[in-house]
This record gives sequence, C-alpha cells and structure tokens, in this order.
Amino acid sequence: MSTKISAKNINLFYDQKQALFDINLDFKKNSVTALIGPSGCGKSSFLRCVNRMNDTISGCKIDGEILLDGQDIYRKDLDLVLLRASVGMVFQKPNPFPKSIYENVAYGPRIHGLFRNKNELDKIVEESLTKAGLWKEVKDRLNDQASALSGGQQQRLCIARTIAIEPEVILMDEPCSALDPIATAKIEELIDELKENFTIIIVTHSMQQAARVSNMTAFFNMGKIVEYDTTDKIFTNPSNQQTQDYITGRFG
Ligand SMILES: Nc1ncnc2c1ncn2[C@@H]1O[C@H](COP(=O)(O)OP(=O)(O)O)[C@@H](O)[C@H]1O
Ligand SMILES: [Mg+2]
Repeated sequence: MSTKISAKNINLFYDQKQALFDINLDFKKNSVTALIGPSGCGKSSFLRCVNRMNDTISGCKIDGEILLDGQDIYRKDLDLVLLRASVGMVFQKPNPFPKSIYENVAYGPRIHGLFRNKNELDKIVEESLTKAGLWKEVKDRLNDQASALSGGQQQRLCIARTIAIEPEVILMDEPCSALDPIATAKIEELIDELKENFTIIIVTHSMQQAARVSNMTAFFNMGKIVEYDTTDKIFTNPSNQQTQDYITGRFG
C-alpha cells in the first residue's frame, strides 16, 4: 500500500513551549491509523498539522514537512481551501451548522462548486448521507434543523458533510467522546467502511476503540512518538516498555 501522508521531522511550538518533538510518521493510503497516548501528549496538535488547522492559533510555529501525495502542504503557494477540501476533519463534539440537515451536507459542495444543477446536488447529499449511514434515518426530514438530531446522528451528519466534498483524508479527533456506546458502535462501523475510500487518522483516548478500528497505531507520550507499528503488534506485543505500561493501564 502506498504512502498517502508523510510527516517529516515535525517540531511544534506554542510560543516558547515545545509540544511536538521530531515527529516522523507515514500514513498508508486507505488505512486507519489511531493516535493514542495520555492527555496533553500532543495528539490533537499533531492532527491539526495535517490540515494546517494550527495556522489559526497565534504563537503556534511548526518546523518540518507534511507531504500529501509527496507534496509539502506547508509550501508557500499552497491553496488552503483546496487542502481543507482534500483533508477533512471531524471534531470531538458534533458541530453541525445551524441549518437544515440537507444544507449541512450541501454546504461544502456549494462552496467548491461540485455540481451543475439541483439534481446533482440532491444526488451528492443522498450519497454522502448514505455513506455516513444516516440516509434511512433522515430521508424524510431533510429540511429539519440539524440540531433536532441526536448526538450520534449529528456526528454522522458531520461525517456526511466531510465526505460530501470528496476528501482523500479524514482526520477525526476523539469523534466518539461525546457519544453513547450505541452511537459509538455505529461510528466505528462507519470508519471501517470509510477506509475503503479514504485515509483516516483518528485520535482516541479509548484503547479498545483503537484496537477495534485501526490498522496502525502510534503511541505518543510527552510530544514524542514512543512506538508506531501495526495495531496488532502494539496491543499484543509492543516493543517498548512505556507502550506496554500504557496499554495495560499502568501509566498516564
Ligand atoms: N492552543 C494552544 N496554545 C498553547 N498550548 C497548547 C494549545 N493547544 C495545546 N497546547 C498544549 O500542547 C500540549 C499538547 O496538547 P494537545 O495536542 O491538545 O494534546 P492531546 O490532544 O494529546 O491531549 C499540551 O501541553 C497543551 O497544553
Ligand atoms: Mg486532544
């Protein structure tokens, strides 16, 4: 499998404070990679490097390279709008727009001009909601406000909204932490289906979740990668004592 994203020597600072130390990680195409580690170890900071969300944080400085299909996303002439279209993000708390279900999904395609007429837009909305496993539940109420949905449905709507602009990579930062176990199971199932078409990087504080959904796992501690390997190896036979301690709950 080919490399979709390659992080090279990433050092990240918030003003004087260094939060990431020389991170090197390759992410394979059409795979799910979990980022795990204790709170404050830099998982979200790293994830935000991958679609340049840190650009909006004043005082945040990043050295190193993130290559997307071999091209540095920190190059000067990069088009941020296009980058965010190819690297979508789903956040911890579902954050649908205060609009209808339909308009939440139609929003990105409108901005990026991805359709020629209403029929095509309807099709994108239906396909995105279908891929996000939400179509059956909402097809008769597309004009209802997104806020009328349950938390789990709102998160799947946010995933549909991300998919609608046909990204190549989806970043998820603890996407299930605000959800109940049933809604969580649905998102996990969905992640498994989405990896057929997308490269997924998911931050999770749940080791069970990492073990269930990912192919590869990176264990972060204090801004460094302690160990990066197949999920199977990390959870059954890690090479590093710190990883062993963390996955057995004796740490962090
Ligand atoms: N916007 C910010 N400004 C300053 N420091 C930050 C900011 N975001 C995160 N940090 C600091 O960077 C470190 C890593 O945080 P974070 O990436 O959020 O970790 P995690 O997602 O693993 O919990 C922590 O020490 C945190 O306090
Ligand atoms: Mg975080």
